[in-house]
Amino acid sequence: MGFMWVTSLFLLFATVYGSDLQRQDAKLELEEYIKEASQKINQQYRLQYHVAAPVGWINDPNGFSYYKGEYHLFYQYYPYDSVWGPMHWGHVVSKDLVTWEHRPTALLPDEEYCFSGSAVVDGDKMILMYTAHIEKEGSPTNQSQYLAFSDDGVNFEKFVGNPVIPASPNHSPDFRDPKAWKHEDYWYVIIGSKTDDEIGTVLLYRSKNMIDWEFLTILAQATSDLGYMWECPDFFELGGKHILLMSPQGIEPQGDRFKNLYQTGYIVGQFDYETFKFTPETEFQELDYGHDFYAAQTTESNDGKRILIGWFGMWETAFPEAKDGWAGAMTIARELELDSNNRILMKPLTQQNSLRGEKTFDGDLKENQVLELQSASEVLIDIDLSKEIHLLLEGRSGGGKAWLKWDPAVGKVVVEREGDDVRQVEWAPVSNKAWRLFLDTSSLELFCGDGEAVFSSRVYPLGGWNLTNLGSQALQTTAYALNRGVPV
Ligand SMILES: *[C@@H]1O[C@H](CO)[C@@H](O)[C@H](O)[C@H]1NC(C)=O
Ligand SMILES: *[C@@H]1O[C@H](CO)[C@@H](O)[C@H](O)[C@H]1NC(C)=O
Repeated sequence: MGFMWVTSLFLLFATVYGSDLQRQDAKLELEEYIKEASQKINQQYRLQYHVAAPVGWINDPNGFSYYKGEYHLFYQYYPYDSVWGPMHWGHVVSKDLVTWEHRPTALLPDEEYCFSGSAVVDGDKMILMYTAHIEKEGSPTNQSQYLAFSDDGVNFEKFVGNPVIPASPNHSPDFRDPKAWKHEDYWYVIIGSKTDDEIGTVLLYRSKNMIDWEFLTILAQATSDLGYMWECPDFFELGGKHILLMSPQGIEPQGDRFKNLYQTGYIVGQFDYETFKFTPETEFQELDYGHDFYAAQTTESNDGKRILIGWFGMWETAFPEAKDGWAGAMTIARELELDSNNRILMKPLTQQNSLRGEKTFDGDLKENQVLELQSASEVLIDIDLSKEIHLLLEGRSGGGKAWLKWDPAVGKVVVEREGDDVRQVEWAPVSNKAWRLFLDTSSLELFCGDGEAVFSSRVYPLGGWNLTNLGSQALQTTAYALNRGVPV
């Protein structure tokens, strides 16, 4: 009896220990593979200051957090091909949110694909909470919430007691993207889901220990035209209000609005921790009007600012870099601010200026004048809004093109990409009337004024950029070459 007991204890130990070793081996093998495969990437479209995978596919930002003196950003990652596949969590860190370094892949799939989630810091530990997506033949897909722990922000161990939230109250197969935070004595988490009749919801839970969770309420639910599924929710205070940020699927385009396949946007409201009631004060509003922006996530910076990073991509679009061995990227980090009209302004961080290298132009960009710019450049343009603006961006050696426009009679900023539908939105600057344009090897991000209108779009020029003033006013323009913010 005693012998049997000891034997089975030994076997149990050997099994657990053995599978730990296997996991360790799998991680080392993966890092070896990444190192080798990343050297074979064709660099033609490779971004110089935007986070991208060393090799392979990435989508949603995950686990954006500050831990032991560094910002951590994880991302949905499939290293073995430049298309979506069984999800891992890739990992980068930064001291300043502008320059980033790669860390070993944080989570590898076992039985489960490691879908999106968040990170919290509990004393000395970092805790990842993510959605385990399990596909088994003959049964419906299963999404439940898992934890993984780390003492160093590099090595992560999945919790042996997973799942910590096995199912949503209605057992929906779509139950994902936990975003956790602490408020006073409790941990809270919101999770994206849907009702039985396909209406997007955000569910709110709380816990004393991150392990035992109590369902509290449906924090928010879509009206009929706001989508069948709400993904990637986030919930935070900004300017004395509560912001519910999420990425709905299934909203139909309405004029200039909601033109991408899926949206990312927000509702401003008030939240009461006594009743768990979120009282919206606004409709759902889009956050970014470009072609490629989704699944954004925020964290609080160590100086109390609300910082956001989005996936610089969109589902079911072509990624021309895929043939080069990689696909997808993150936007630059943006600081959020709530203005007096309950509208979120998005601005580049102050420290973004630290990437500036040589000033390559400073003066009037005259009619039909061409400004030759390096692949990674920043351009500041002062604008007389009573006149038309028409700028062409194209590759110095061909490739993709885009146009940036303003027509005072219409009052909209327009970003047009060759062979694509325009993206446009009304712009009524409060004070600052400048445009700030961030160009990278295959991307543009346009910030108008104080961040009232922002566009993020991937464009694929070859050999750096030519910026041509096709409008009828000379534009006071300053341009900088930008230094690298990510490793080659
Ligand atoms: C998913 O699997 C867990 C066991 O890991 C189970 O408890 C849960 O009920 C399943 N969820 C659904 C929606 O069936
Ligand atoms: C870019 O501008 C330079 C200088 O005007 C010009 O020589 C070159 O042909 C331009 N490239 C393209 C693709 O138009």
